[in-house]
Amino acid sequence: MSDKKITIALDGFSSSGKSSMAKWLAKQIGYVYADSGAMYRAVTLFCLQNNLIVNDVIDEEGLKKQIGNIRISFSTNAENGLQETYLNDVNVEKEIRTLLISNYVSPVSTLKFVREALVRQQQEMGQKKGIVMDGRDIGTVVFPNAELKIFVTATPEVRAERRFLEMQEKGDAVAYEDILENVKKRDYIDQNRAESPLRKADDAIVLDNSHLTIDEQREWLLKQFEEKTR
Ligand code: DC
Repeated sequence: MSDKKITIALDGFSSSGKSSMAKWLAKQIGYVYADSGAMYRAVTLFCLQNNLIVNDVIDEEGLKKQIGNIRISFSTNAENGLQETYLNDVNVEKEIRTLLISNYVSPVSTLKFVREALVRQQQEMGQKKGIVMDGRDIGTVVFPNAELKIFVTATPEVRAERRFLEMQEKGDAVAYEDILENVKKRDYIDQNRAESPLRKADDAIVLDNSHLTIDEQREWLLKQFEEKTR
């Protein structure tokens, strides 16, 4: 492996498995991993904790006033080696993965001032390169000059099935149909919002993993990385 550090952007639909891929790749090549979706989820949790979402409506003015007080960071859990998300120094990793947060996160992430604040933090995290960041706008907005851009996709049914199994494993009793509906709804909002909609960067490589095993995806990913750093 060469010493040249690059920036890697992994974008794609929700539950496409991009976080698992990004996490694995970062560990494999000794890069920092940053989960930008977790940051939008943490802002959403902040809203729910501070009565900034009432009757499904976001208090935009209220959030705007407080956005400067939201500090998001990542830290590795020494026991299991997994990266966890902190909101103002409180570990919120578990709370931000619930279906409640998934249901509110898309509207929160459509807000321009929220995106500006988070993009700034993300660009700071990537200043030294050697980072794998996953999200929706990493290759288009956050790191438009990333050397390696990957756009991950899979059918909504395959993605809903994956999330369903994941939640079942965690003991969350949720119906597959509800998850499928959430996946489709988020796809729609993510692709159609005015601010930084989800779209493939012109120079991104597409990976449709609907019918690929995890090992096949890993092998493919590593090959893309090696080609860029050779
Ligand atoms: O990847 P995820 O499902 O944890 O992301 C949660 C939400 O955050 C998703 O519905 C869209 C939004 N998001 C975004 O708008 N931009 C990003 N870079 C990452 C996530």
